[in-house]
Amino acid sequence: MKWTLFGWLWPLDVVVDPLEDAHARSMADLHAHSFVRPWTDGEFHDMLTQPTTFGFVVRELTWGKARILGFVLARGVAGEAEILTITVAPDWQGHGLGRKLMDAVLSKAHRDRIESVFLEVDETNRPALALYRRLGFFQVGGRPDYYRDPSGRKTAALVMRRDLR
Ligand SMILES: CC(C)(COP(=O)(O)OP(=O)(O)OC[C@H]1O[C@@H](n2cnc3c(N)ncnc32)[C@H](O)[C@@H]1OP(=O)(O)O)[C@@H](O)C(=O)NCCC(=O)NCCS
Repeated sequence: MKWTLFGWLWPLDVVVDPLEDAHARSMADLHAHSFVRPWTDGEFHDMLTQPTTFGFVVRELTWGKARILGFVLARGVAGEAEILTITVAPDWQGHGLGRKLMDAVLSKAHRDRIESVFLEVDETNRPALALYRRLGFFQVGGRPDYYRDPSGRKTAALVMRRDLR
């Protein structure tokens, strides 16, 4: 829960729901805030219509508004799942929404009898690494010089895994 200027009167409430195709546009807008090479709404639409993809959206529910604050998108195949992307709106980062999204996706993966969840993360992404390690992900591999930031600096991708069974 995030507390606003009027938080002592009105804390903002959030709700986590399954992703739907109708979220593709908002997902693309949010993604563009956080990634050097953002995915388009068309790409999200294509991913959301595949039977193997699933995910969750977190929305602010205040005074009838339903702004999308973040989402996580995953794919599950043959007992394994991969986190394709996760992002939270910049002004909402650090307020527990990433944790809520990851809890939702890990719970669904567990219900679907998925045994292991994988993801890739930039070695310099401290918030994401903190989140994943807190949830029990551990490094199982790496890809040197996998990412390139806007200044041209190359960084490694860490491959992480969380076992569910
Ligand atoms: C990574 C991201 C999804 C995390 O979501 P979030 O809502 O900010 O994270 P939470 O508030 O749920 O915090 C989860 C953990 O990360 C830690 N954390 C959050 N922000 C942090 C920061 N700036 N530095 C260090 N740790 C941080 C929190 O302390 C918390 O750890 P704790 O449970 O031990 O206290 C979010 O920061 C984001 O959208 N980043 C941009 C996109 C991105 O990098 N996606 C990941 C690609 S792999």
